[in-house]
Amino acid sequence: MASRGGFSSRLGFIAAAAGSAVGLGNIWGFPYEVGQGGGAAFVVMYLIFCFILCYPVMVTEIAIGRKTEKNPVGAFNALGFKKWNFVGKMGIFSGFLILSFYNVIAGWAFGYIFEMAAGNFGIADQFGEFVKDVFKVGAYGLLFMGTTAYVVSKGVSGGIEKAAKFLMPTLIIMILALVVYSLTLPNAMDGLKFYLVPDFSEINAEVVTSALGQAFFSLSLGMGALITYGSYVNKKENIVSAAAFITLADVGIAVIAGMMIFPLIGFMSGGSMDGVGSGPALIFVTLPQIFGTIGGTLGAIAGTVFFVLLCFAALTSTVSLLEVPVAYVVDEHKVVRKRAVWIVAGLIYLIGIPSLLGNGYSDFFTNFITYPGAEGATDFLSFIANVANDSFLPLGGCLIVFFAAHVWKKHNLDEELANGAPNYKGSFVQKYLNFAIGYLAPTILAFIFVVTV
Ligand code: PFF
Repeated sequence: MASRGGFSSRLGFIAAAAGSAVGLGNIWGFPYEVGQGGGAAFVVMYLIFCFILCYPVMVTEIAIGRKTEKNPVGAFNALGFKKWNFVGKMGIFSGFLILSFYNVIAGWAFGYIFEMAAGNFGIADQFGEFVKDVFKVGAYGLLFMGTTAYVVSKGVSGGIEKAAKFLMPTLIIMILALVVYSLTLPNAMDGLKFYLVPDFSEINAEVVTSALGQAFFSLSLGMGALITYGSYVNKKENIVSAAAFITLADVGIAVIAGMMIFPLIGFMSGGSMDGVGSGPALIFVTLPQIFGTIGGTLGAIAGTVFFVLLCFAALTSTVSLLEVPVAYVVDEHKVVRKRAVWIVAGLIYLIGIPSLLGNGYSDFFTNFITYPGAEGATDFLSFIANVANDSFLPLGGCLIVFFAAHVWKKHNLDEELANGAPNYKGSFVQKYLNFAIGYLAPTILAFIFVVTV
């Protein structure tokens, strides 16, 4: 363990794993998916998936990581099931895809720090121009990837732990303050109604898959990120309660981010909720407005601080995304850590270029694919995000829990979970986890996968 580095404390692991979970997925992804998925009915599906399906997957990933002290491919080998390491390979591939588009969005958020600092609240109307300026936003993205690579090259403990412990609570306080503020705006209640009062007729196969994909993406599951982080965890850690805390924190932050955004959309649309389904652009066109209504220096300061915090939240997530392939290359191919980091980061940046170009700069990537029955074309970034989040992650999660329960076997998993959790054996939680990991999660995930593919 010592040679790979490990988290220095109990809080360190929880902070880093929560840092991985909390990111753009909560503040950018969740509101836009809710907007496209018809509102509160999507939220209900999402909550069910997070607690019933994803929590058991999270426990399993961390346990496999801690047991083997390996990356997602090495973990399957170490347990003696080499044939299963394709699941780890698939996870690494998903990580490549996700980081490639995630970094583009992070670059936008990074650019917004300067726009807010300059008091340019009108950026909301110029967003299309902003993302089309690929040399500028591409440079922001390059800086973001560089920072991620630098942090990962230093090793996972230390920097990440410290930053996450301080910045996450600050972000929560800031969002809560904005929730209170946005609720005072005219027509805020129309937004709140859209967000909190479910209309179950909105639920269809597409909404179910997006809610499932969003749950996996937001909790950093299905690609071995938490196998990797788990590999640095101490045997004294109580995985069952740590995972519960991480799930609650992540879901909690997504839910309050929605409380901040939807009242604001109610306000901006005069109560009609027009524009709520606008997709990945959603927070970038709505958030500047909240700071615009505050106005002046105070608005500029609030906007700047907000996007700085959002970038830190994104950074703790990009770090975990990059750590997965890096741990693999370092462990399995014996490449020196520093070198592995810069090569992999560079490669992923290049893979992200079509996602960068597909926001108005290149026609080809902007109108990349037209789904049957869809109104318009889908851009490259959204296409990759859909494939990775809605298909690869749930499929990966399904295979991981199936493997743990039926190939590695439940009693081995239980043995690992009991380390650091003296009351685990014989508890209700154990019974539930056994049921969920053995039957519920693999069945539901496989079913949804088959129905929707
Ligand atoms: N959970 C992160 C977010 O919500 O922004 C994104 C992410 C990080 C997904 C790490 C997957 C992962 F392995």
